[in-house]
Amino acid sequence: MTNTLRTSSATQNGRVKVWDPVVRIFHWSLVAAFAVAYLTEDDADFVHQWSGYAALALVAFRVLWGLIGTRHARFSDFVPRPAKLIEYVGLVLRGRESRYLGHNPAAAIMILFLLLAVGMIGVSGWLLTTDWGWGSEVLEDIHETAVNITLVAITLHVFAAIYESFRHRENLVRSMFTGYKRALTHKK
Ligand code: HEM
Ligand code: HEM
Repeated sequence: MTNTLRTSSATQNGRVKVWDPVVRIFHWSLVAAFAVAYLTEDDADFVHQWSGYAALALVAFRVLWGLIGTRHARFSDFVPRPAKLIEYVGLVLRGRESRYLGHNPAAAIMILFLLLAVGMIGVSGWLLTTDWGWGSEVLEDIHETAVNITLVAITLHVFAAIYESFRHRENLVRSMFTGYKRALTHKK
């Protein structure tokens, strides 16, 4: 319990508040904005462009929140050193990885990648609407390829969340809605 109290300011029946409302609203808004932009790709007009800009704005805001936000929202809380990442991946492969309250080192890298990728999609999309970039095949290729790579990454991201949920007998997807997770039972 002492450890629980040390790891978070709010605990409730062995549950710890991990994701603040900003992180949760950010996450599901990003999922929605990305989905709408993707589904409206056919005629890249108003809805496509504004849902894309919404995704871009969400990413920019999340980067800021990663610097000034609550404990587990901060990059300093979850971005791992390379050695830590390698060690974690090795443990996953042997089925012996620890459970984390915040993002685990592999999830952290995926998160950085997704933020960067959505940022690239948004910026390349915006450039396609400018006099400078309009009609550029290179920009169209960048936009489209970044979307396709991101779709693969999202698939991995979702499967990893489900896999880790089974491994540690918790529902990580639900935590992204409620903000709560089971407290750690020992110090990591
Ligand atoms: C329905 C599909 C999705 C599910 C079920 C899902 C689930 C999750 C879960 C469980 C986490 C927390 C991971 C952890 O505990 O370490 C997370 C984090 C995250 N996911 Fe997703 N995700 C989905 C789609 C997406 C999409 C489409 C994107 C980006 C385009 C995305 C970007 C992120 C980011 C950036 C975070 C970090 C959240 C933060 O710290 O602010 N996710 N996701
Ligand atoms: C995360 C957000 C976004 C996603 C998932 C997305 C996705 C896509 C996809 C799948 C295409 C079709 C590519 C092709 O088949 O050539 C497309 C085309 C396009 N998008 Fe986006 N987009 C996003 C953001 C934006 C933004 C912010 C803008 C501009 C403000 C934009 C402008 C365009 C334009 C002008 C095209 C047509 C390019 C062409 O003719 O190939 N997109 N987008």
